Amino acid sequence: MAAILGIESTCDETAAAVVVEGRRVRSNIVATQFDLHAKYRGVVPEIASRAHIQNILPVLREALDSAGLALGQIDAVAVAHRPGLIGSLLIGVTAAKALAWSIHKPLIGVDHVHAHLYSVLLDGQADPEMPAVGMVVSGGHTALYRVAAMDEVALIGSTIDDAVGEAYDKVAAILGLGFPGGPILDALAAEGDARAIAFPRSMLDRDSLDFSFSGLKTAVLYHVRGKQGRQRTAADLTQQEIRDVAASFQAACIDVLLTKVRRAVQQTQAGSVIVGGGVSANRGLRRSLAALGLPVYLPAAPYCTDNAAMTAGLAYLDFRRGRFSRLDLDAVTSSRFIREL
Ligand code: KG4
Ligand code: ZN
Repeated sequence: MAAILGIESTCDETAAAVVVEGRRVRSNIVATQFDLHAKYRGVVPEIASRAHIQNILPVLREALDSAGLALGQIDAVAVAHRPGLIGSLLIGVTAAKALAWSIHKPLIGVDHVHAHLYSVLLDGQADPEMPAVGMVVSGGHTALYRVAAMDEVALIGSTIDDAVGEAYDKVAAILGLGFPGGPILDALAAEGDARAIAFPRSMLDRDSLDFSFSGLKTAVLYHVRGKQGRQRTAADLTQQEIRDVAASFQAACIDVLLTKVRRAVQQTQAGSVIVGGGVSANRGLRRSLAALGLPVYLPAAPYCTDNAAMTAGLAYLDFRRGRFSRLDLDAVTSSRFIREL
């Protein structure tokens, strides 16, 4: 019964978790930094890394305590060592190395985006039919993958500008709402008219599996400003107008995501769809995916946004095969999945 301690610090969440046999989550502790970044309407890297330093030890202690395990009962230490903000990554990587070394247990570095795909397996969910189309929709990434097996993943499309979560956060800022914007817009969208405003859907070329969300974000900005460059702001809109913008923006995002998933399924002959990352919590997206006509696997609520359970879970695939990282494991800002041209 291998128990792996996972550590996540790629962006603005400090997280630690204990997962048994890659599936059973014994503890899942996440310290968010929303309050620290809210007034800047986005993550400030220097503030994030400082907060990771303050949070990492208490979060690790809590993950062990609530799993009811002593450090000596851990079989390996896993860490998301890429991709992310360099200053943030370094805190988790350094903590993981020090821990693994001090308890004489293996260190396993994993890719955070890969872990988002793995998150659908946590807490005893069923295995997806393979090959699957994987889609990661988060604040930092929007990409499609061909998943032949959970540890055999290839990138087949990605955003050429903003990530969809980033677009949510920026649109929320344009509308004068809080941070992160995703959950706020999701709730407002439920009460708005999705057909009120015809925002653009950027599909790129006919067969393209790439994404572009910056035009949509700019269209929302121009809509809020009003005709002939009137300097209207969100404060001039009624509550119902704000809800309509949220619903129309969300409908455009979902249209694009669903169109690309359908294309990817066709091109890869996939038998199922796996979706992970913060935006996979979106209620509208979940509803639309359910109507895809193919089995769709989504993470349970606690594993949509950044967490360390998915890190510890994914690391189990390497642990089983005795594939360990060396103690000179680096923090790397880019994902290990790159486009095969
Ligand atoms: O996966 P995640 O926690 O961090 C990254 O790896 O980037 O994703 C965070 C992103 C944020 O942009 C946030 O606004 C978005 O996920 N998000 C949502 C929802 N919940 C979180 N977007 C849309 N609808 C939601 N319910
Ligand atoms: Zn993430």
